[in-house]
Amino acid sequence: MKLLPYFLVSFLLLSCKNQTATPETAIKDKEPEIGLITQNAMVVSAREEASRIGSDILEKGGNAFDAMIATEMALAVCYPYAGNLGGGGFIVYRTQYGELGSFDYREKAPMAASRDMYLDEEGNFISDKSKVGGLAVGVPGTVAGIFAVHEKLGSLPIEVILQPVIDLARKGYLLTESQADRYNVYGPEFENVNGEPSIYTAKFKPKLLFKNEALAQTLERIAMNGRSEFYGGETGKKLIAFLKKHKGIMTLEDLKAYEAEWREPVTFKYKDLTVISMAPPSSGGICLAQILKMIEPYPLKEYGHNSEKTIQVITEAERRAYADRSYYLGDPDFVSIPVDSLISDRYLKNRMENFSEEKATISTEMSYGNIEGYVKMLQESTETTHYSIVDQFGNAIAATTTLNAAFGSKLYVKELGFFLNNEMDDFSAKPGEPNMFGLIGGEANAIEPQKRMLSSMTPTLIEKDGKLWMSLGTPGGSTIITSVLQTILNVYEFDMSMQDAVNAPRFHHQWLPDIVQFEPDSFNRNTLEKLAKKGYTIDEVNAPVIGKVDAILVLPNGALEGGADRRGDDTAIGF
Ligand code: DON
Repeated sequence: MKLLPYFLVSFLLLSCKNQTATPETAIKDKEPEIGLITQNAMVVSAREEASRIGSDILEKGGNAFDAMIATEMALAVCYPYAGNLGGGGFIVYRTQYGELGSFDYREKAPMAASRDMYLDEEGNFISDKSKVGGLAVGVPGTVAGIFAVHEKLGSLPIEVILQPVIDLARKGYLLTESQADRYNVYGPEFENVNGEPSIYTAKFKPKLLFKNEALAQTLERIAMNGRSEFYGGETGKKLIAFLKKHKGIMTLEDLKAYEAEWREPVTFKYKDLTVISMAPPSSGGICLAQILKMIEPYPLKEYGHNSEKTIQVITEAERRAYADRSYYLGDPDFVSIPVDSLISDRYLKNRMENFSEEKATISTEMSYGNIEGYVKMLQESTETTHYSIVDQFGNAIAATTTLNAAFGSKLYVKELGFFLNNEMDDFSAKPGEPNMFGLIGGEANAIEPQKRMLSSMTPTLIEKDGKLWMSLGTPGGSTIITSVLQTILNVYEFDMSMQDAVNAPRFHHQWLPDIVQFEPDSFNRNTLEKLAKKGYTIDEVNAPVIGKVDAILVLPNGALEGGADRRGDDTAIGF
């Protein structure tokens, strides 16, 4: 089975420059690498310009929510690979007073979407249709998201927050090497899918000044007219007219009906940490809770970082959590999800009961766990980037936003200056059929009009002793949850600095396909051989990079340490 093809192509392109092979032994002997330290505030994101704009908003007296809006929009300008106006995302927050919340601006299926829309007459899945072009596009949530955050928690006027972003689009930014490469690689596909050239289809060199006047004007209109500019105004109308030309089924009614939703975050204990993460329609919080609670009884610290026993216990917990994900999880507005049971100690203890240290569990011989009294109820009425921000007042956010694949559906609305998502591929188009991340979904995540597709995005905040301790998250499709997990463990169990925790090599397992992926040349050979002998299928080829974590750790003296992933152009900026 081919796993993660889209995701890998995307990451291959960005991976090579900064990637250093770090065998486990070398990591142990290495001096710790410390990330940027600041005393007051910090923004860590995929691009220097976006972190700078967010940090400047904070220095101007704005709060983390103002900085979130600025950073999110700046990423749409200078990281269009994943930053977006045409996609969606999630933000988890903790205010300076300790209030917790999360916000869901995930895309939705258009009203005209139907369960079998990606199947041919024989019932075969035509996978391209959910990935490329007009039919792949879900109703975008990002603009609704930033306005909802602003209304509830923002402090500066929206025009003030958006002005530096508009300037960035108009005056331009310098392409990094990986960006220039990426634009060059995708250029022909953009031209092919859109049927015409655009500013993204030229030949690019690093350090070229890249401007996007159409996007500057779209952002100006949004700053002036507010949310409705996108969900029904000139921008919305142009977007729908564009989609019509590209066989899309989204209408102005879909845009008008879109609402971002406040959601109760998933909150749980791991030892003396309180973890606060995203609830459905993301699977992130629940799966993270399940995995952490399943491994909690095992002495990982004693086993050692990336040791045979540690990898085995984590892999087996991941196997069980991802099997549950595929059966139980979907959009909570459409399906009932037994959240409390899924993350209860009793249930998870039971789930690990058939774990054997001697040999691997076989994925095809196990499936989701049994929850007593659970009746599956379909309620009538189912490329990414992460940034973390801590402000000078003590507010913290973790936000992950996405177009799904790199540049989403590859549809670029020339007149408006932005790409459109292909989030429809996150639905399970046909039970048992893997999506672009190899994830297999069930009924809970089947396509229905106006339903949100299940996500793996895991923006996460952590408290220790009742105080903010960490903010983190990552892109990476199905590998998001396991990358967040390992980063937390690296600091908490293995005493790494934030930067080392982000840098450390990662592995991933997701129940099906039954393989364990390892970042190449980064793990002890002996360890991998022993795991293979126990029956684990080791894959060191197909995942050159797993995740791209951006994080902030609050140090015991109250200062902040940034962890900006070496795997990309990610940068921490603060003061
Ligand atoms: O919501 C999800 O889980 C996916 N659409 C995320 C896609 C992603 O992370 C791609 N990034 N590398």
